Amino acid sequence: MKTLVAYYSRTNITKKLAQDIAGKTNADIEEIIPKVNYQGKLGFARGGKDAISEKIIDLEDTKRDVEDYDVVYVGGPLWAGKTSTPVISYLKQNEGKFKSVKFFMTAGSTDFENAFAQMEKFSIKPLKTMGLTTKEVKKDDYSLDSFIE
Ligand SMILES: Cc1cc2nc3c(=O)[nH]c(=O)nc-3n(C[C@H](O)[C@H](O)[C@H](O)COP(=O)(O)O)c2cc1C
Repeated sequence: MKTLVAYYSRTNITKKLAQDIAGKTNADIEEIIPKVNYQGKLGFARGGKDAISEKIIDLEDTKRDVEDYDVVYVGGPLWAGKTSTPVISYLKQNEGKFKSVKFFMTAGSTDFENAFAQMEKFSIKPLKTMGLTTKEVKKDDYSLDSFIE
């Protein structure tokens, strides 16, 4: 089975999780890179605003074609209670191309439900979802067993 892990990460929390998932599933990995700058204070403010308005932005060219994969894990951070703009843009860009998906997300809190529903709206129903707090990822306080099975 061919597996891809595609992720966006602004401060490397979701990146750590993405690398762990990719290592354990023997997957290829794709970093989603926005053409919009979300770094720094200004970037933070822009991120919140873009997430709330479900803005679709341009991304750097991707290296992998999701159509080549049986399952694509898609992940990123929660922004203003929503899915982060780069992740929504990646799903939109690949609309109709996914065979199956699993979603993962990190956040300070655990309010993932609406954001996962939003991801589904922009793609297809996921096989599984997994939301972890920033703290859990930092401390390695989680298990991937049921998510990756
Ligand atoms: C623009 C912005 C908005 C955020 N909004 C929320 C939020 O609504 N709820 C929450 O729990 N965390 C929120 N966060 C925190 C991130 O979701 C959290 O730090 C995440 O683990 C960062 O992952 P990353 O390092 O992969 O980008 C926000 C962060 C940013 C940059």
